[in-house]
Formats: sequence, structure tokens, C-alpha cells
Amino acid sequence: MSYDSVIVGGGIIGLSIGWRACQLGLSVLVLDRSNPPNAASAVAAGMLAPVTEATFGEEGLLRLNLESARRWPAFAEELSFSSGMHLADHERGIVHIALDRDQAEALRRLYDHQLSLGLEVEWLSSIACRRLEPGLHPSTRAGILARNDAAVDPRRVVEALQSAVRSGGGEIRHGAEVTEVEGPEPRVRLAGERVISAGSVVIAAGPWSGRVPGVPAYMSKAIRPVKGQILRLRSPASLPVPVSRVLRTEEIYLVPRPDGEVVLGATVEEKGFDTAPTAGGVFELLRAGDELLPGIREMELVEVRAGLRPGTPDNAPLLGPIAPGLIAATGHYRNGVLLAPVTADGIAELLAKGELPPELTGFDPQRFAR
Ligand code: GLY
Repeated sequence: MSYDSVIVGGGIIGLSIGWRACQLGLSVLVLDRSNPPNAASAVAAGMLAPVTEATFGEEGLLRLNLESARRWPAFAEELSFSSGMHLADHERGIVHIALDRDQAEALRRLYDHQLSLGLEVEWLSSIACRRLEPGLHPSTRAGILARNDAAVDPRRVVEALQSAVRSGGGEIRHGAEVTEVEGPEPRVRLAGERVISAGSVVIAAGPWSGRVPGVPAYMSKAIRPVKGQILRLRSPASLPVPVSRVLRTEEIYLVPRPDGEVVLGATVEEKGFDTAPTAGGVFELLRAGDELLPGIREMELVEVRAGLRPGTPDNAPLLGPIAPGLIAATGHYRNGVLLAPVTADGIAELLAKGELPPELTGFDPQRFAR
């Protein structure tokens, strides 16, 4: 059995690369360890928020985030076409809210920083915030509107990508456990099966990327799981949804979906590979959610879930060769959904033409090998 590209990881990153590689004429096999999927993509809220999530000292990552956000509308449109699944258009604009004086001062510093980077942001008074979102807590002090930030539903995107990979001629295997990747003529060994040979193997296994047997040892130090607990809420039929656009505070975010679901996330916890939701995590999310938008009290709590972000020492991804025939596309930390288009375009180009485009060269995995 032989493929041009074998991709280890069936989350949004692995599938997006698989789809783009199929479009470039490569034969593709995507290996997904879990069945049903438990990748971060099945848990994530799906914010496309390069501006709202911009932080001090991460300008290189910000440029990549902005470039990927710019590609999202065309990516979604093309994916809708390839999969036959309509990916809903979401209302654009994310509002970052300050709920007290300290938060308002910190938000003002962030706003000045965003302006100094040339980002499109608008300062909102308390009244302007509540005019946009009447359900906000009366103590709302101020906000920043990032008009071009947005959100998608990652579960629908993953479903669409699976369909697009298959209709593009690629294969996806669920429940496939990789027991070894080998080079320099790349081969992948699966539990209980014979060996698959590949032109290239892409490691896109999120937080598990450092644990794939056969990857260079530094990968397990470079990538760590960062737990995020997240809730899904829904208004009873008799009540309106209390929020119409994505909101965030310094602690949490609220992401309304067109079908009335509201995602409330997320904790950030260093707990290894633990994915158990906890009473404390749920309590903190609901407390902070209630401080932002008291109307969530009336909503039904329909899901509690924890996922693992692939964190890295500099919060930036690992994109590029890690050994002969072996390529990393992992470590996207808080930005996996946002970074799917730019990662997929660049890694598929590397697979097809042997060269990484300039926008990805600053994220060489070898920076952690030294
Ligand atoms: N991007 C949001 C999160 O990682 O929770």
C-alpha cells in the first residue's frame, strides 16, 4: 500500500491539508486515531479572532493569523462547494468587554497596542456596548469592537472537510493507531496491519504529535497538551437567545451559532492529557459567563466537554520538515481553526512542490531542536 502523502491526524489541520493535497493531484491517506473524533476541532468554539486574541510580543504569529483570517471566506466558500454542505455565514465582529475599572484600563492598553500595530479596532463606550448587545451586564464599562473577527462551527467544518477529502479521491481511516513512523523513505506502521509507504508523512496529531512513535525526540518537549473546558448552552423555545455576536472578556468567550446554540469557553489548564470536565471548571465558566451576560442563567446546559490544545513554548505552530520525508503541521495552540487555511495551503504546497511558501518559513520546527 502506498500514497503520496500520509497524514497522521484527522482534526481540522490534518483534514484541511488532506483536502488541499488532493486538489494538487496527490494520493492522500488521513489517519484518525479516534472514532468518534475527539480532536480539539470537535470541542473548539471556532473563533477566527486574530485581532481580539492579539497579545503583546507575538507579532510574527499575528501576521500569520491575519493572513489565515484573510483566506477564511474563500476557504469556506470553496469547501461548501467541494462538500455540498453549506457553511453558514456568521455575523462578523467580536466585542472584547471590560466589566470593571481595572479591566477597562487593561483593555485601553490593549487597544493602544492594537492601534500601534495598524489593526482595525473601535473603542466602544459602555452605552455603545449595550446598544450592540442589550443583554450585557449593567456593569459593562467599555469594549473593543474588532469588526473583521468572526467565528465558524468547527464540527461542521470537519464534517465538510471529511466529505471534501473523500470526494477529492482521498481516504480517511478512523480508529487507526500509528505504532511507528520511519524514514528516510517514509513508512507508517499501523497497529495490527502491514506497513504503508508514503512519499511524505505529515504529523498533524495536535497535542499527541510528540507522542507519535518515531518522531524526533524534541517534538515531545515542544508540544504539550493545554486543557480547555467548554460548555454548550441553548435557549428554551419560549425564550430568545440572549446574545447575537461573539463576546469575550479577559476570562471567557461566548460564541452564538446561527442555530441558537451558544458556546461558552474556555478554561486554560496545564493538566497533561486529562480531559475530564470538572465541577470547578464548569463553575468558573458559569460564574464568569453570568458576570458578562446574566441571561445565560435561563439557558439549558446541553454539553460539557474538555479538549486539549497543542501548546508550544512560544505559542506558535511547528510547520515544516522534521526529518527526511517527515513534516510537522502542529502546535497551533489557541489558533487551530483560524490557522487551518494558511497551514493547509502551505503544507500542501510543500508536499506537491517541495517548497514551503514564505509565510510559513518563520515557524520552522527545528527552532526547538537546538
Ligand atoms: N481560541 C480559544 C481557545 O483556545 O480557547
